[in-house]
Amino acid sequence: MDVEKRQKKVLLTGEQIARRAAELGAQISEDFKGETVCLVGTLRGAVMWMAELMKNITCDTVIDFVMASSYGSGTESSGNVKIKKDLDTDIAGKNVIIIEDIIDTGNTLAALRDLFASRRPRSLKICTLLDKPSRRTAAVKADYVGFEIENLFVIGYGLDYDQKYRNLPYVSYLED
Ligand code: IMP
Ligand code: MG
Repeated sequence: MDVEKRQKKVLLTGEQIARRAAELGAQISEDFKGETVCLVGTLRGAVMWMAELMKNITCDTVIDFVMASSYGSGTESSGNVKIKKDLDTDIAGKNVIIIEDIIDTGNTLAALRDLFASRRPRSLKICTLLDKPSRRTAAVKADYVGFEIENLFVIGYGLDYDQKYRNLPYVSYLED
């Protein structure tokens, strides 16, 4: 299949995403007024969204990254999640917000959330750029959602197909 020809469709423009990041950033700033938040980006998909979001957060902020991989068949993740890069930050007693690119089945995030919760943070929230609720198999819900989307395979704005297209400054999708 010729992916090059199929990746031009725009689902969400960079401007739409920037506007939503400003709204959610303002909400997070209000929710954590006077406190410090630790933003934890999930590598690699969340980097562009995290960069846009954090520009709009006005309370004291520290950042860290985690890399998880979940093994499953084909394009679907499984509950068998492995941490490839753990946090450098001790999150005990801290306000933590996991920044995700997309919640699909929820398997990866459910495992991350449970792991982080076991480290006794003061609070633990989830902020995702995209949410595909129709695909959910694990019980996980984001506190801050950029956009709910239907069951499409999306690329761009950090999201990849075979490690490509992460650099597109908008969200596109593949048609089958
Ligand atoms: P999960 O099924 O919620 O565990 O999704 C795990 C990861 O799969 C996400 O964090 C993304 O990195 C990736 N993923 C899920 N859906 C898509 C998609 O539509 N495009 C690109 N990556 C995706
Ligand atoms: Mg991801």
